[in-house]
Amino acid sequence: MDTFECIISKLEVREFMRKEVRSEIKQRILESARQTGSGLNLQHWRFILVEDKKNLSQLALDSTSGAWISGADFGIIILTNPTLRFHLIDAGRVAQNMQLTAWDEGVGSGLYTGIKEGHLRKDFKIPTDLTPSIVLGFGYPAKALSGMRKNRLPLNQLVYVEKYGSSRN
Ligand SMILES: Cc1cc2nc3c(=O)[nH]c(=O)nc-3n(C[C@H](O)[C@H](O)[C@H](O)COP(=O)(O)O)c2cc1C
Repeated sequence: MDTFECIISKLEVREFMRKEVRSEIKQRILESARQTGSGLNLQHWRFILVEDKKNLSQLALDSTSGAWISGADFGIIILTNPTLRFHLIDAGRVAQNMQLTAWDEGVGSGLYTGIKEGHLRKDFKIPTDLTPSIVLGFGYPAKALSGMRKNRLPLNQLVYVEKYGSSRN
């Protein structure tokens, strides 16, 4: 799949088949995280790979908006350094790269940001100098998906030319 096709077809997936994702694909997803550029190339992020079903259920309990992750094949907790003003930009970039790499392999993913931080920290032994910014869940989609489902604003409501508020016409 070319990059544009991958971006426009990708959907958030929250229902997964009971089919294991091969370790080579997981490795590829993690490698795409490693290759992502970060602010000042600090690479302050750390990733916790969660494969144990009990721990996936714990991820669901430690969330306010990600109960669906209990059905994922595996999860990844993205940790970033909160003292960096751009740390959430870095978290978003690395999450998107992992999701696109997965999608290109036919693997769906969702993310949650509604994190019960105290619980997640304790359950996954997260050190105090890192923040759990995003939690991702991956697996093969339970249903056939179509990009037609996307609900996006048209470009003419999003893009101005030269100055805010001016359009080309
Ligand atoms: C910053 C951010 C926070 C999000 N938080 C959650 C979340 O807490 N729980 C969840 O299920 N999805 C979450 N999502 C996923 C969005 O709901 C999803 O990207 C959006 O609905 C578009 O989905 P689509 O690409 O399938 O159309 C989040 C996405 C972003 C970019």
